[in-house]
Amino acid sequence: MDKIVITGGQKLKGEVEISGAKNSALPIMAAALLTEQESIIENVPNLRDIHTMIKLLRALGAKAIFEAGTVRIKPGKNLKALAPYKLVSTMRASVCVLGPLVARIGHAEVSIPGGCVIGPRPIDLHLKGLEALGTKMEIRHGYVNARALKKLKGADIFLGGSFGSSVLATANVMMAATLAKGTTTIENAACEPEIVDLARFLKKMGAKIMGEGSPLLEIEGVAKLKGVSHTVIPDRIETGTYMFAAAMSGGDVLMKKTDPKHQNAVIDKLTAAGARVEKKGTTIRVKSSGRLKPVDVTTLCYPGFPTDLQAQMMALMATVQGISVITEKIYPDRFMHVSELNRMGARIFLEGPTAIVHGVKKLSGAPVMASDLRASAALVIAGLVAEGTTEVHRVYHLDRGYEKIESKLSALGASIHRDRE
Ligand code: EPZ
Repeated sequence: MDKIVITGGQKLKGEVEISGAKNSALPIMAAALLTEQESIIENVPNLRDIHTMIKLLRALGAKAIFEAGTVRIKPGKNLKALAPYKLVSTMRASVCVLGPLVARIGHAEVSIPGGCVIGPRPIDLHLKGLEALGTKMEIRHGYVNARALKKLKGADIFLGGSFGSSVLATANVMMAATLAKGTTTIENAACEPEIVDLARFLKKMGAKIMGEGSPLLEIEGVAKLKGVSHTVIPDRIETGTYMFAAAMSGGDVLMKKTDPKHQNAVIDKLTAAGARVEKKGTTIRVKSSGRLKPVDVTTLCYPGFPTDLQAQMMALMATVQGISVITEKIYPDRFMHVSELNRMGARIFLEGPTAIVHGVKKLSGAPVMASDLRASAALVIAGLVAEGTTEVHRVYHLDRGYEKIESKLSALGASIHRDRE
């Protein structure tokens, strides 16, 4: 197992190129199953989750290869229905093969992903949406067994849950509806840029979709889809992570190959905290004196502040003197990073789904344990500004979602490297 070793204190300066969005690439790779023909997906980050999805597509009978940021997927005629526990249990996004399989071959057996360290992660909305399209769902031996008794049929579906819309349930139902007979409407659809990117991919394949990016989607089913080429959007969570790292180190960093339109909630908070943020074309520049003000943040569905940046925001606020309040509205238990940040000298108190952060003058480097992907990123950026050395253990979480994080941060002047345990 690897660990990341960081010696804090360097101001980040320079340019960093943002990778393609993992959370866009994964459902798009699953969507490629909707046709027999080959699709070519570009700007795909070289990450563990992407390789897991490739293994899953192969287990389903598709040809899939990853080479230099490009994924080629050729599903062919004979897909298999079984998405095995071994793969699904390591990556929840595997659940997005459910919709495409039901639409293409009328049958899917997908292991139920189960909860994870960020809290319970039900799939009731996925099941409800696919059932409305005419799929019979059974839970047996830990698997969802989905069977379309006839061709799927369009329906009006309300996809709201206790925590608002669901990104991957919207993806699953939208993908299945593209091949259903008649029109489907999805109300309370997720508006995330990754859903818009998926809709763009599906539309190139020949799907008829309207309203992507709004809470009301309308999909008119078509008989067949075709293979296409597509370039994945930049990763807004990776962008945000580097923006926070730049701001807290008192640095000056230009994020390149990103989409500033997707960062407004983050820009709003960073500006309120006193950092200077400039957007220009496909770049964002963050400049900061390092002396920031506390700000309060609540995570919400897009275009609100993303839950996937809550931990990194907390790392930032941990070093800003004063009190800030961070409320988690998407995953009320997503706070595993709090105790690790506190081990680095932070003063963070939890009150239900709210963290009260008393900023300290300086964090102090410590050995810490990564619990999930975004928590790991928060510990790394905390290490960049801590006094002394921080060792982040269980780095495999980080490798699920951040391409070349050590080399990107090193190029910005950070003292960071990877070691064997
Ligand atoms: C996607 O997960 C992302 N994953 C997550 O990113 C992200 O945190 C999340 O959206 C929210 O933005 C991918 O895109 C691969 P949801 P998803 O369904 O779609 C509840 C990361 O770090 N819910 O939008 O699975 C759910 O419990 C990961 O990259 C139901 O109640 O999340 C949560 O409270 C972590 N029933 C809320 O909805 C359901 O059937 C939003 O979850 C589905 C979800």
